[in-house]
Amino acid sequence: MNIAVIGAGYVGTTTSVAFAEYGHKVIVVDHDLKKIEKLQQSILPFYEEGIEDLLKVLITKGNISFTENVNSAINQSDLLFITVGTPSLDDGVADISYVEEVARTIGQHMNDHKIIVIKSTVPIGTGDKVKDIINEELANRNKQIPFDVVSNPEFLREGKALHDARYPERIVIGCNSKKAEKEMKDLYKEVNAQLLITSVKDAEMIKYASNTFLATKISFINELARLCEKMGVDITNVAKGMGLDSRIGPQFLHAGIGYGGSCFPKDVKALKALSLQEKIPLHILEAVTHINDTQAEWFMQKVKNTLGDLSGKRIAILGLTFKPDTDDIREASSIKIIDFLIKNQAVISAYDPKGIEHVKKIFPSITYTSTPFEALQGADAIILVTEWKDIIEIDWKAAKNSMNQPFLFDGRNALNASRMVKLGYSYFGVGLPSN
Ligand code: UDX
Repeated sequence: MNIAVIGAGYVGTTTSVAFAEYGHKVIVVDHDLKKIEKLQQSILPFYEEGIEDLLKVLITKGNISFTENVNSAINQSDLLFITVGTPSLDDGVADISYVEEVARTIGQHMNDHKIIVIKSTVPIGTGDKVKDIINEELANRNKQIPFDVVSNPEFLREGKALHDARYPERIVIGCNSKKAEKEMKDLYKEVNAQLLITSVKDAEMIKYASNTFLATKISFINELARLCEKMGVDITNVAKGMGLDSRIGPQFLHAGIGYGGSCFPKDVKALKALSLQEKIPLHILEAVTHINDTQAEWFMQKVKNTLGDLSGKRIAILGLTFKPDTDDIREASSIKIIDFLIKNQAVISAYDPKGIEHVKKIFPSITYTSTPFEALQGADAIILVTEWKDIIEIDWKAAKNSMNQPFLFDGRNALNASRMVKLGYSYFGVGLPSN
């Protein structure tokens, strides 16, 4: 199939690579010429394991190409994917102006039947808006060209995008015509996944409902962790016990210092704002956001209560990205933690394998190191913020010996608590009985 993917951001690029790998011919469009030129040389604007290598192969094969010429991309393709950003407005509502702009462009240029597929995360009812805009543009051109609008949300996780694109658990297709349904099924015929066909609006809601539910699970376990810690209960055992019930499941019950990234914070806000607009407020999402906004601070109060005055204390921050295997620092807990430490006049040295350059732009004056070991030399405490493999696997015995005092605050419960205590650390996790 011939596919145009409009918007070469994270979702657009990873999805395009997946489609090209399924054997389709994909043209990726973006108005940022510099980005296009880099992508033509298989250089990604973000870090995602395995994608660049695969991109090289697919470009050579001729399955994927990049252009800023939207008109020709539209008219060479049957399926047009919209993968532009939908950032939060001040009130939390998702801004769909980039989606509307693409819809307008499609209406201005299309010359025959197209299936327009919205992959961006959009408020419920956006499919109808896109349809209206295209009809408006066609009317301006005195043209009557049939088209379909489909919602096909993505569920890719950063750091695992290639795996998720190759082996998705489910594919949700929201469409209101048999023709579009058939084409969409053909698009995914190589993929072994559960297929769910719904209305466009249902599919739009599935995306929000999925992300906000996962965020709810995390905030639930994080708040429960606070209570467990107070009562001498181990949250990791509680999560294990809960997860053995197949109705609950073990995933997303890992207590920590809060979720971040480009999706959960934004989507929780957007669905909450949507519910307020409809006057059916989703109170649960208010709590989910509040817990997440305060989780890092709750953790840092523990650091402060343990170490006392933080002024002049040397603190090593291990991990800066919102999770491992990505260079993304959007809404990362590290930002709140560094901010707290700076306000308390601590001396910070930070390590991360991929995120330093981005964090440096926000906090230019703290020290950044190229190994975890350099960061913790002479430190009064370590705060483990992101559970990167190269951080978890450092020689913790040697690390302790090179610190000034062996305080270890594990914000992700990523280390073996009893082993750390045996090594002589004063170890503090999230929701664990005090040692
Ligand atoms: C998420 C969804 O998983 C994905 O389906 C959607 O398409 C985009 O949003 P992503 O943001 O890449 O993906 O990361 P994810 O692995 O879901 O983790 C999100 C955040 O939750 C991270 O900060 C992670 O550390 C945190 N998290 C996750 C927890 O704190 N505890 C958990 O048990 C799981």
